[in-house]
Amino acid sequence: MLNGVNLGALGERRPEVYGTQTLGDIEDLLQAEFPGVDFEFRQTDHEGEFVGWIRESASSDGLVVNPGAWTHYSYAIHDALEAVSIPKVEVHLSNVHARDEVWRRESVISPVVEAVVAGMGASGYLAAVRYVLLADS
Ligand code: DQA
Repeated sequence: MLNGVNLGALGERRPEVYGTQTLGDIEDLLQAEFPGVDFEFRQTDHEGEFVGWIRESASSDGLVVNPGAWTHYSYAIHDALEAVSIPKVEVHLSNVHARDEVWRRESVISPVVEAVVAGMGASGYLAAVRYVLLADS
């Protein structure tokens, strides 16, 4: 599970939009919900590092990815995801289509993933993991 720019600030960053749980809380929730899954949880604010991790994920069973604001403009992340042939799900805590800023309604990532979850808060990550597990079975 890869979380991108500013997602390390969950819990304190705009809780009315992103909720009060920290990323650590969400990771604990996932591990508790799926005890048999060997998760690798990572977060960075550095795009190049994120791209490297996407490439590394090629040897895993699936990728749950929330690139934060990079979602809306990073062709580098698009290209990295396009090159990785595992089940991939894009997650957003908020419903990006219902936000005030028009630029949040475009994702350059969506065309290169199988599924998109938005607006379900932390539960969106659970749904994404469930999808990856089904895709692998
Ligand atoms: C986000 C939505 C993005 O527009 C924003 O830049 C984020 C978080 C979400 O999870 O709702 O950082 O990806």
